[in-house]
Amino acid sequence: MAEEPLLRMEGICKSFHGVHALRGVRLDVRRGEVHSLVGENGAGKSTLMRILGGAVTLDEGTITLRGRGQVFRAPKDAEAAGVAMIHQELSLVPPMSVAENVFLGREPRTRLGFVDYAAMREHSEALLAELGTPCDVTRPAEAYSIATQQMVEVAKALGREADLIVMDEPTSALAEAEAERLFEVIRRLRGRGVSVVYISHKMEEIYAISDRVTVLRDGEWIGTAPVGELPQERLIEWMVGRKIEQLFPKHAAEPGAELLRVDGLCVDTADGSGRRAVDGASLTLRAGEIVGLAGLRGSGCSELLGALFGRYGRVAAGSVAIRGRPVSITRPAEAIANGIALLTNDRKTTGLVLSMSVLHNATLASLSRAGPPGCVLRDRELALAQPFMDMLSVRTASVDAEVSALSGGNQQKVALAKWLMTEPSVLLLDEPTRGIDVGAKAEIYELMNTLVAQGKGILLITSELPELLAMSDRILVMHRGRMTAELNRDEATQERIMAAAMEA
Ligand SMILES: Nc1ncnc2c1ncn2[C@@H]1O[C@H](COP(=O)(O)OP(=O)(O)OP(=O)(O)O)[C@@H](O)[C@H]1O
Ligand SMILES: [Mg+2]
Repeated sequence: MAEEPLLRMEGICKSFHGVHALRGVRLDVRRGEVHSLVGENGAGKSTLMRILGGAVTLDEGTITLRGRGQVFRAPKDAEAAGVAMIHQELSLVPPMSVAENVFLGREPRTRLGFVDYAAMREHSEALLAELGTPCDVTRPAEAYSIATQQMVEVAKALGREADLIVMDEPTSALAEAEAERLFEVIRRLRGRGVSVVYISHKMEEIYAISDRVTVLRDGEWIGTAPVGELPQERLIEWMVGRKIEQLFPKHAAEPGAELLRVDGLCVDTADGSGRRAVDGASLTLRAGEIVGLAGLRGSGCSELLGALFGRYGRVAAGSVAIRGRPVSITRPAEAIANGIALLTNDRKTTGLVLSMSVLHNATLASLSRAGPPGCVLRDRELALAQPFMDMLSVRTASVDAEVSALSGGNQQKVALAKWLMTEPSVLLLDEPTRGIDVGAKAEIYELMNTLVAQGKGILLITSELPELLAMSDRILVMHRGRMTAELNRDEATQERIMAAAMEA
């Protein structure tokens, strides 16, 4: 008989306001295995893991851990049973220090019963160093980039010394090199007998790290298989219920007139160090082109897009011209008026208003078209939004639902819809497919092709190199704020991009 698994979840059902999120789902996880949980946006992955973590109560079903039936009524019950969670939406307390975040709720004490800050500092420093992200743990979490915060989240789970760790899209904010470091940690954990449930939409990662894979679709269990016995076509078919002919549709660019010209653009870093986040960047973007921007964290790619959108006010130096006409864009409203749209890489803080409805978020940047001046008409809003909701297959109970109730990938689709609705001629897309499932990714690539065929131009940042290589007509590589290479479609390879991204 096979060894009793560490975790067995059976017959799990859950509905929210009458909508089934999970119907009879099962999952078993062996000791020392990395088990990937995959499925389209809204399939129920995070909900299943929130049930395991005690954050959501199940309607029906059983959880057996180490052979014993368990009822988790709160996150602390799951934690006490040796289950640690890294949630999809970061759960750090921003103003608290990194060390306090790592030890939140289980602060070490001195013999006299006081919080042992020295021990906290030492342990959290060691954990972050192990993750290859050394940082000053006494500074508040919010002082660090999303990527570093993500590593703090991982350190927090490691520090709990759990024997089952759930990672819900842990690499969505990480660059390639950082993700690779996380994988090393996962492999070490597996070597120590720790089990990991891993959620990701990135095919390469799933194949690189998993022992077995479980697929959910529309809240139902579709199958579980060792990764070696599940070729990618079959995995995708399990996920979307049909064959996807082409993940990256090929598009033939017919570059037209120049849309955007940037000369010697400089942006100071926000930390007052005097260092430049963007240091003399120049580029052109023509109608019908997709130009990829590649670089490691801190390379300045995102800041370059932010500056073009007027996020940082007046730039330190340099000039920008649209269709040959010099412009000075110091506010996002001016950028929108000039036909520029920016999808940021951080939908939680700058992309969406989480407490507002799906519909209001989607139309937020197009209000002038949603009714007579100063007025928003619901019919107009719906007429504006519905085509985009359909095209991106946004999965929501209703357009009036709070956007925070949507699955992570569906939130990203709403953010994308918001910007597409402004009918921009220059699209600045920073990680447009982050957290988006494989079926919708293919649709977004199709859409990008359609947009450029209509004469728009796209500047694309993505940490998924296969996506960058497949979609870009040209690739510009940045390192420490400077452009270090320009590669055309035929020259570009992962190796060349990485080489240019790492040296000055
Ligand atoms: N608190 C909630 N209130 C209402 N509906 C919810 C809530 N949490 C989840 N849902 C719904 O349950 C379904 C499953 O969502 P879940 O977050 O588990 O998806 P997911 O597989 O993690 O997707 P993604 O890959 O986009 O993160 C979705 O339709 C979602 O809208
Ligand atoms: Mg999720």
